[in-house]
Amino acid sequence: MIYNCPPNQIGREEQYVKSALQSNYLAPIGEFVDIFERSMAKYLKVNDENVTTTSSGSSALHLALIQAGVTDGDVVFSSSFTFAGAVFPILQERAKPVFIGSGIDGNCTLELFKKALESEPVKPKAFILTHIYGNFARDIFEIYEICKRENIILIEDTAESLGARAVVDDEEIMAGTIGDYGIFSFNGNKLITTSGGGLLYAKNSKDVENVKNYAFQSKDKGYSYTHSKIGFNYKLSNVLCALGIAQLEKITIFIGKKRENNLQYREELNQILGFEAYRHDSVRWMTLADFSLYLDQLDLDSVISRMYDNGVELRRAWTPMQMVELFKEYPVYTNGIEEHIYNSCLCLPSGTSLQKTDREYIVKMIKDTILVEIAKQTPRTSNTSPIE
Ligand SMILES: Cc1ncc(COP(=O)(O)O)c(C=O)c1O
Repeated sequence: MIYNCPPNQIGREEQYVKSALQSNYLAPIGEFVDIFERSMAKYLKVNDENVTTTSSGSSALHLALIQAGVTDGDVVFSSSFTFAGAVFPILQERAKPVFIGSGIDGNCTLELFKKALESEPVKPKAFILTHIYGNFARDIFEIYEICKRENIILIEDTAESLGARAVVDDEEIMAGTIGDYGIFSFNGNKLITTSGGGLLYAKNSKDVENVKNYAFQSKDKGYSYTHSKIGFNYKLSNVLCALGIAQLEKITIFIGKKRENNLQYREELNQILGFEAYRHDSVRWMTLADFSLYLDQLDLDSVISRMYDNGVELRRAWTPMQMVELFKEYPVYTNGIEEHIYNSCLCLPSGTSLQKTDREYIVKMIKDTILVEIAKQTPRTSNTSPIE
């Protein structure tokens, strides 16, 4: 089976995990936590004291919201084209999401952000902006300028876009390090994985200190177990950080593989399918193919099912938040683009261990599936009718 985005262990995963086990630090502290945090800080071009690992991307997001002071009744802007797990923490804090739609690359646009800001009766406390599918959200610099002016805390959800970057004044700036906070995910399907895990970046290192305290159950200083505020068990284990170090050592290779996938799909499917508009600084975590041309003749779920029967796992694009039952009551500012992406695009297998021959097989299966699905829908016409 060719899965959509499986992990890839090509480095020292076993060696480092073994070593973590031998150290007997089977806890969210230890040498490998320190090394992984330092290595991630270096990769992100930030200082060590500005990052901390967390048990998941979702917990990093939850901690960012808490540290931002988001509470009961606050308004939080959020990308509408994102994973629901990125919105749940807003509801956990009993705040109210307002959804901001996307441009053609799937990321929030400055235009829709401004429109929401002008139209909403209450100013947001924070904005969770997602860098989607490996893309770099191109409007983030202008959005952040407005956020600073308006006292809105900007949280970058970089779960899917570790490694995406922009060059500003000859300097490379990594996605996730521009706003006040950035969060990353090391879930099993991400560019690098710890099987489950995350990381939080904060511009102000004091915030990281506080966040670490929250993540360690808010234990007060001293030997006694006293807690003056609510806490969470949100840190990442030493054993999993060992896995993360080995994965991070291969990140450049992984990004290269992602781009290779995208390029071959484009070359071989461009004649029949459209593709999402990526910027070239995208890490192309996920390649989406656009089936718009065939939508009156085929159903995307049937395509997924037929492909699965042939050993290839395709996936639906994220359901825009305004279409998710749980979030339908909240305001949305959209040009309909993310709904178009949802209705017409599918996520192609985008793992970093895919071989050229795998992609050739996938392309062949997509072409066959389209033909079969179309043949099913269109009544056969023959110019050699036996009746006439
Ligand atoms: C955009 C986005 N935000 C947040 C998350 C949550 O991260 P995690 O699964 O590590 O909790 C994910 C996916 O997993 C995601 O894709």
